[in-house]
Amino acid sequence: MKSLLAFVLLATSSLVLAGPCDIYASGGTPCIAAHSTTRALFNSFNGSLYQVKRGSDSATLNIGPLSAGGVANAAAQDSFCAHTTCVITTIFDQSGHNNHLTQAPAGGWKGPEANGSDNLASATGAPVTLNGSKAYGVFIPPGTGYRNNAATGTAKGDAAQGMYAVFDGTHYNGGCCFDYGNAETSGGDTGAGHMEAIYFGNINVWGTGSGSGPWIMADLENGLFSGVNVKQNTGDPTITDRFVTAVVKGQPNNWAIRGGNAASGALTTFYNGQRPNASGYNPMSKEGAIILGIGGDNSNGAQGTFYEGVMTSGFPSDATENAVQANIVAAKYATTSMTSGPALSVGSHVSLRATTACCTNRFISHQGSTVNTQVVSSSNTTTVKQQASWVVRTGLANSACFSFESVDTAGSFLRQSSFQLMLNANDNSKGFHEDATFCPQAGLNGQGNSVRSWNYPTRFFRHFGNVLYIASNGGVHDFDATALFNDDVSFVVSSGFA
Ligand SMILES: *[C@@H]1O[C@H](CO)[C@@H](O)[C@H](O)[C@H]1NC(C)=O
Ligand SMILES: *[C@@H]1O[C@H](CO)[C@@H](O)[C@H](O)[C@H]1NC(C)=O
Ligand SMILES: *[C@@H]1O[C@H](CO)[C@@H](O)[C@H](O)[C@H]1NC(C)=O
Ligand SMILES: *[C@@H]1O[C@H](CO)[C@@H](O)[C@H](O)[C@H]1NC(C)=O
Ligand SMILES: *[C@@H]1O[C@H](CO)[C@@H](O)[C@H](O)[C@H]1NC(C)=O
Repeated sequence: MKSLLAFVLLATSSLVLAGPCDIYASGGTPCIAAHSTTRALFNSFNGSLYQVKRGSDSATLNIGPLSAGGVANAAAQDSFCAHTTCVITTIFDQSGHNNHLTQAPAGGWKGPEANGSDNLASATGAPVTLNGSKAYGVFIPPGTGYRNNAATGTAKGDAAQGMYAVFDGTHYNGGCCFDYGNAETSGGDTGAGHMEAIYFGNINVWGTGSGSGPWIMADLENGLFSGVNVKQNTGDPTITDRFVTAVVKGQPNNWAIRGGNAASGALTTFYNGQRPNASGYNPMSKEGAIILGIGGDNSNGAQGTFYEGVMTSGFPSDATENAVQANIVAAKYATTSMTSGPALSVGSHVSLRATTACCTNRFISHQGSTVNTQVVSSSNTTTVKQQASWVVRTGLANSACFSFESVDTAGSFLRQSSFQLMLNANDNSKGFHEDATFCPQAGLNGQGNSVRSWNYPTRFFRHFGNVLYIASNGGVHDFDATALFNDDVSFVVSSGFA
């Protein structure tokens, strides 16, 4: 049964591994939305997977698979985005229903990051390989999200649907709400049961699973649920896999959560039973919009990484989902380098010199917790030289990136706080580690390195008025100005003064 579902007989008479949506179709529950920046989800799909927009001239490029049914053409993106920044503007629907995901508009919820539309994701924040071939996922920081409020063919009311998504199991937070799936068409909270989306993270305001999270749960609006019990289902485990397959499906008074390691093994059912024991969820009142990275009311305080996901018409069988999981495992998701440009070595002492014409004698320095640029040379005092020197450490939040510890204040690291760079003592919290992790890449102006923020990958170290920020190439803050961006974010890294 499983092997019959996993393979389709093509006209050429050769047995070829089917795509996830071919498998759902043979199970009688076809995809009505299929989103991925990493690969085609139908065996024959050769159209556009996603669109990127570059900062230098706002030109766009659609990225397709290397061949029909294959992995995304990341080399086309790399070439188009060389020496500038790129964001993902559209994640195309491969199902033929035109349920494309684009920048989420303002919604009912207005957080500190919300100012009109949500932000677009960096096109380079989540590099991976699939079967050895490079591709990029969608790395979503707080304030970023995608949406389609006019989707067609999605489940409405109490109609049945299935969903799966592949996420980065190590990129999550306790903000609301990193979701993928069915949501309100208005962008506002219209009440219990008006959503049915996959949630991933460790928020503990509503339901939880066992341990401290992150968990796969369902966002059904006005609550995240792990089972029938509104508060907790101890059968819903804390996820520790780097790549996780998350499944949520629902039909009249029945729904299920399933999950597994997207790089090996099978799915496990964490819940399958009646609707949550609270009013408003039976029957459901699904509206049929599609969200990614945000809650139904545009709550955009969460973070996570999306690689691929689909929504189906009808309630998929466990056997169909098991065959989809086998296909995901066969796609061979794996981690890859997060950095490029001149190499940094852990344990070395470095100084970082500005390359903008105004400031080529200025180095990233600190006075107390303030981080700025100062004119420094070998003739300055030891104190000045130490203030401009940093020990390269393994990235506190991601070992493929780096953190920068102060030479004169051991235990204190460069970290972003409200997008300003500060020197603060490491409190060993998950948030500090993430705010202090940076992934250098080749300098955007061709010199040295541009130092990308791990948790806000549209943002790079930038000197602006001699103060250090993590800045994006255009945006609502003055330090996000596009003028001089490439120069201001490029630093020559040399041996430390001290
Ligand atoms: C894509 O698929 C269509 C329809 O199957 C086919 O006509 C076209 O030649 C294919 N294009 C490429 C670039 O493979
Ligand atoms: C993975 O790559 C190898 C070597 O290029 C190839 O032989 C194999 O068919 C690929 N597997 C899949 C599932 O695409
Ligand atoms: C559902 O809620 C009712 C009332 O609070 C309670 O008596 C019942 O035990 C609950 N059932 C489950 C399965 O949680
Ligand atoms: C380093 O020395 C130069 C030359 O004396 C001086 O102009 C500069 O202000 C000094 N830098 C700092 C940070 O004090
Ligand atoms: C938010 O948007 C408004 C209107 O577009 C703009 O005037 C304002 O400066 C923005 N707020 C921030 C913090 O940039």
